Amino acid sequence: MVTQMKHLLSLLEYNESEFVKLLELAEKIKADWVKGKRPDLLPRKVLGLIFEKPSLRTRVSFEAAMMQMGGNSIFLGTADGKIGVRETVADFARTMSHYVDTVVLRTFSHDTIVEFAKNSSVPVINGLSDQFHPCQSIADILTIRESFGPKPGKTVVFIGDGNNVSRSLAIACALVGYHFILTGPKLYHFDKEFLILFAKRFPKAVLIQSSDTINSLKNADIVYTDVWTSMGQENENEKRIKKFKDFQINDRLMSKAPKHCKFMHCLPAHRGEEVTDSVIDGEASIVFEQAGNRMHAQKAILLDMILGSKK
Ligand code: CP
Ligand code: NVA
Repeated sequence: MVTQMKHLLSLLEYNESEFVKLLELAEKIKADWVKGKRPDLLPRKVLGLIFEKPSLRTRVSFEAAMMQMGGNSIFLGTADGKIGVRETVADFARTMSHYVDTVVLRTFSHDTIVEFAKNSSVPVINGLSDQFHPCQSIADILTIRESFGPKPGKTVVFIGDGNNVSRSLAIACALVGYHFILTGPKLYHFDKEFLILFAKRFPKAVLIQSSDTINSLKNADIVYTDVWTSMGQENENEKRIKKFKDFQINDRLMSKAPKHCKFMHCLPAHRGEEVTDSVIDGEASIVFEQAGNRMHAQKAILLDMILGSKK
């Protein structure tokens, strides 16, 4: 029998105050780490990572986080991590639950993560699926708070695709009271299903979709982008390059945003496509602070998932 437990599949598992607590925990962990304090917060705990797709940031930040907190991790990549190939997703989940304290999954289909979580007796963390990338958004909000402080009311303009990164970021923004604008070709705006889910959960949140990038940038505190072609969509690459070409973030576009506006990208970047070198390497860019914050965010997530109220 599988007991009901906390998972992190989309970010919708958190309410507003729980989410702020998680961010504050990550901020405290980072402040301690900067001072050289690395307490063994998860001694002898084991994290399993099962990845169907490549990763740099998510994998290394989770593994480093676990080691720095006195625990360890086991990585199953594309050879052994093909969930549902050698055995069913349910059997994989039931077996893993005997070995590790929590699992991070990176999958093609979000349904695989949902099915895995249903059958897991340890917490399951979504390390990216075709629908959501919640761990990314936690680090993103952490980074925005570092630049602008903890007050709500900021405006995040995401230029690009209604994809895993922008879906989770829209949810994260709603949880902390930021306005979220998605601008890109209309065909690639959020799907109806997500919009219904979002409106039901956040009836008062500001979520705007537009194809008018210049107008969207007027009040931007953050301009954010991601690749136009996500992992698993490679056969659409040429078509997407054509559709998105007018939405590249370059100096001309950045000049339409207020002077204080920062540039963010979840990385990896396809330089010369969604963003130019001049912007990603420019003064407004905080992409490497953002990437660095993945590790502090992962520590807070791991503590919350493994220890929960015991921490
Ligand atoms: N941003 C992010 O998730 O990077 P990786 O794909 O390298 O993990
Ligand atoms: N949307 C991208 C994010 C990579 C971190 C992808 O899914 O490939």
